[in-house]
Amino acid sequence: MKFLNYGSLNIDYVYRVDHILAPGETLSSKGREIFPGGKGLNQSIALARAGVEVFHAGRIGKEGGFLLDLCRENGICTDFIKLDENADCGHTMIQVDANGENAILLYGGSNQQQEKAQMDEVLDHFGRGDVILLQNEINEMPYLIDRAYEKGLTIFLNPSPMDEKLLRCDLEKISWFLLNEVEAEQLTGTKDEEEIRIELRKRYPGAKFVLTLGKEGACYFDAEESVFQESFPVKVVDTTAAGDTFTGYFIAELLKGGTKEEALRIASRAASIAVSRKGASTSIPYRKELDA
Ligand code: RIB
Repeated sequence: MKFLNYGSLNIDYVYRVDHILAPGETLSSKGREIFPGGKGLNQSIALARAGVEVFHAGRIGKEGGFLLDLCRENGICTDFIKLDENADCGHTMIQVDANGENAILLYGGSNQQQEKAQMDEVLDHFGRGDVILLQNEINEMPYLIDRAYEKGLTIFLNPSPMDEKLLRCDLEKISWFLLNEVEAEQLTGTKDEEEIRIELRKRYPGAKFVLTLGKEGACYFDAEESVFQESFPVKVVDTTAAGDTFTGYFIAELLKGGTKEEALRIASRAASIAVSRKGASTSIPYRKELDA
């Protein structure tokens, strides 16, 4: 089984603020730091630090060389990451407030310049029995989902950030959805957790779901069963990449043959460590730290 993550790589410009900006407001930040990020990159790093051999595919722009270095340092195969010297790298402006909560402004850049030909080339190396993980920070998502499905790959989707374009994809081809309560509401039109389950089970009867609920915990459910995991209380410094850490660790534990209960527990523990640290990719723990 080979594991492919086809997703974004961003440069995160992180600004510490007392509170998240209101419309029309001007506010001085308490400082700026630059971190590697992007939901795709963060999830590849979480998977790799959890012990999975990952192939990452995507595109970086001219300033993104350090993102490639970070992948290599973490043992991620970078053969399918294309460096485009003519493109601006995908990046974000992230405000992090005194409680560690964030607001993220995303500029797609190189992440939004994926080409179908490159997707075909990458997918030529994968087939039935392999796994693909996707988020929603790159273009050509409908094409990628269709091709991966045709080739018999099992598709895991973290539908983040949710938008109209993603809703136009054939989501019946997805085997696993890993989403938070905001994305679940955008997908189903309801905030109520029970109604979310009913609606998702009805729409995608063959799929499996992992719903993260912030400090309220996380749950797994499918057509037959449902499992709940409480979160681990910690002092929150920065919630950026908590969901990515959870996603990577949950999938890693499953691939190792762990039960859903174990996968939820390990993923929650990893996410609790990530929120106690600054930054996105840099906040993601190594597997051995979870046992400490
Ligand atoms: O999920 C966190 C990530 O979202 C950040 O690293 C940022 O780049 C955005 O993609």
